[in-house]
Amino acid sequence: MESIDQLREELLAAVEQAADLAALDEVRVKALGKKGRITAEMKGLGALDPDQRKATGQALNLVKDAVARAIEGRKSAMEAAQLDAQLAAETLDVTLPVESQPQGRIHPISQVIDEILVILGDMGFRVAEGPDVEDDWHNFTALNIPPDHPARQEHDTFYLPGAAGADGSPGERRVLRTHTSPVQIRTMQAGGPPFRVIVPGRTYRSDPDATHSPMFHQVEGLLVDEQTHMGHLKGCLEDFCRAFFGMDDLPVRFRPSYFPFTEPSAEVDIGCTREGGQLRIGHGGDWLEVLGAGMVNPNVLKNCGVDPENYQGFAFGMGVERMAMLKYGVPDLRTFFESDLRWLRHYGFASLDMPSLTGGLNR
Ligand code: PHE
Repeated sequence: MESIDQLREELLAAVEQAADLAALDEVRVKALGKKGRITAEMKGLGALDPDQRKATGQALNLVKDAVARAIEGRKSAMEAAQLDAQLAAETLDVTLPVESQPQGRIHPISQVIDEILVILGDMGFRVAEGPDVEDDWHNFTALNIPPDHPARQEHDTFYLPGAAGADGSPGERRVLRTHTSPVQIRTMQAGGPPFRVIVPGRTYRSDPDATHSPMFHQVEGLLVDEQTHMGHLKGCLEDFCRAFFGMDDLPVRFRPSYFPFTEPSAEVDIGCTREGGQLRIGHGGDWLEVLGAGMVNPNVLKNCGVDPENYQGFAFGMGVERMAMLKYGVPDLRTFFESDLRWLRHYGFASLDMPSLTGGLNR
């Protein structure tokens, strides 16, 4: 009996000490396999007398069961540990941000257009668009600038070759639009009043010096309704300027001006100071022009089939580069279009930093 107890202790110790599944299987074969130690003991039973055979047989069976159970228990513990280790090694943390350091910058022109659209969009304007290649009629004539009008000279127009009207008139002549105002015409022709649109887009003038670029950007605004008056225009643009420059008390003034397509017309100035040769926006007694605006000239409404007896409207236009230079302190207009990566890294905006009224417009 002592040797059976000893066998039991030895085998259970071997099970306990097996370092991995392969070693454990070796222990199993050596104990329970065809040539295993328990199997060998069983075979020896035949040589014993009947009483001893029964007692020894029962004892051996108990050892066999105990060893088999111990191996099973150790095996599932090892397998579970192995699975845990594998799961830990193959972990994927889906809560990590996609890209902690986004590459690339948003160009200040795109950013400022987005800022302008966010403010005016919130007031109820929707975005409209028109072609960069316009015809003379939409760019000039329909806007109350007939062919011999002196205002045409101020626009330094790029004319495209060919295609005067069939009668030799310039009506169908193609031009690169000199302002976004032709989209006022296209908007009114395409539907009925009321109209409330804003038009961001590229514009072109043949005037390339340090303060002008042959291609630049404007945002146009047009609102036409039954009761619209100058007070609406003033409120709209005052609110706009203060939101855009992030100053609740920014001084805004309307100065009489002239545009053929508005009557009366105004230029909109914001307060600033130029003390010490440095321009700063805000209170300071000095003024800076930022927008052209006015009440839509009745002739323009008539040209678009809108009855000026029943409808009035206001329109405004601004230069995006100018707004960007003033807000973000960009000193030279030409740098906007040089595609200098160092400039873009300095003046550009983080790609996921979308302007919004709640999240902030003024960084
Ligand atoms: N189209 C004018 C410009 O380019 C701006 C403007 C738009 C003025 C609408 C009044 C009304 O200078």
